[in-house]
Amino acid sequence: MGEKKKKVVLSGMRPTGPLHLGHLAGALRNWLKFQEQYKCYYSIVTWHALSSEYQNSKVIKDHTFEVAVDWLSTGLDPKKSVLFIQSDIKEHAELHLLLSMVIPLPWLQRVPTFKEMQRELPDKDLNTYGFLGYPVLQTADILIYKADAVPVGEDQAFHLEFAREVTRRFNRLFGNIFPEPQTFLTEVPKLAGTDGRKMSKSYGNAILLKDSPEVIRQKISTMMTDVRRKRRTDPGVPEDCPVFTLHKAFVATKQREELAQGCRTAGIGCLECKNVVIESLINLLTPYREKRDKFEKKPQLVWEILEEGNDKARLVAQKTMEEVRSAIGL
Ligand code: TRP
Ligand code: SF4
Repeated sequence: MGEKKKKVVLSGMRPTGPLHLGHLAGALRNWLKFQEQYKCYYSIVTWHALSSEYQNSKVIKDHTFEVAVDWLSTGLDPKKSVLFIQSDIKEHAELHLLLSMVIPLPWLQRVPTFKEMQRELPDKDLNTYGFLGYPVLQTADILIYKADAVPVGEDQAFHLEFAREVTRRFNRLFGNIFPEPQTFLTEVPKLAGTDGRKMSKSYGNAILLKDSPEVIRQKISTMMTDVRRKRRTDPGVPEDCPVFTLHKAFVATKQREELAQGCRTAGIGCLECKNVVIESLINLLTPYREKRDKFEKKPQLVWEILEEGNDKARLVAQKTMEEVRSAIGL
């Protein structure tokens, strides 16, 4: 007694396949820090993946495995954090349904991601009931563990505001059941991919956490640089260089500033500059790859870890749902 209860943190990641540097710099690095401090729930949000991948649903399971292996090999630790699969906790679906009863339709119609995603992914029919409910499901994920805080990038800020509004409305209608989840806005560095566009799985330009040193070397050495540096003697602007977005996330400040200076004065060549970030990435990723080998050889172990996480999550979710049903009067 007397000991302060640890804050509950929850976040989720859609299983879209093997993770890349963007996931590491934008989410995982923060998640790793949080698990030392808070009671963390990290979910592989399979139903969110399904809301846009329903025409290719069979890949979700393999992608779930890939994400789990990436999580475990970068150090998310099932002894510290609850690592679980959203669709194995059916209570999320029940809460999603109950929340949907009280969410005014205009709240959903003004969620910007609904229209944005349809524009970005024109070959997918996202004009569905399930996809409209995406932020409702996200709210259920958060509330069911009574999360105090949710680490997300700027792109999810609106969904979090939505969740907070829903929380207030639900509490007003049925009694104070849920803490209003705080947003832990995490800085998501904008990483460029090998073609200079934003690093993204859908562009096929990503550097994966599981890439071998050879692949990393190959991908970065052929990567676009600032167009001003046509010749070795042309000075460049690091801020306009796709490769330098990687330096910003993965090379120590002092060394990075020296390289930037070298670039601006044509004191160094691009190859030399690239080699620095290549080496840092290889150093960073090698220990992950060693852990990964173990998990890839024992897929059963990975599924068992997720099952254990599921069991822990389910207990909490069931307890919350008992409270919720009784507050509503069901
Ligand atoms: N929508 C989030 C994303 O695309 C994923 C997500 C689902 C999530 N449920 C969540 C994030 C709950 C935080 C909390 O990144
Ligand atoms: Fe980019 Fe480095 Fe070449 Fe400058 S020197 S253009 S920062 S790769």
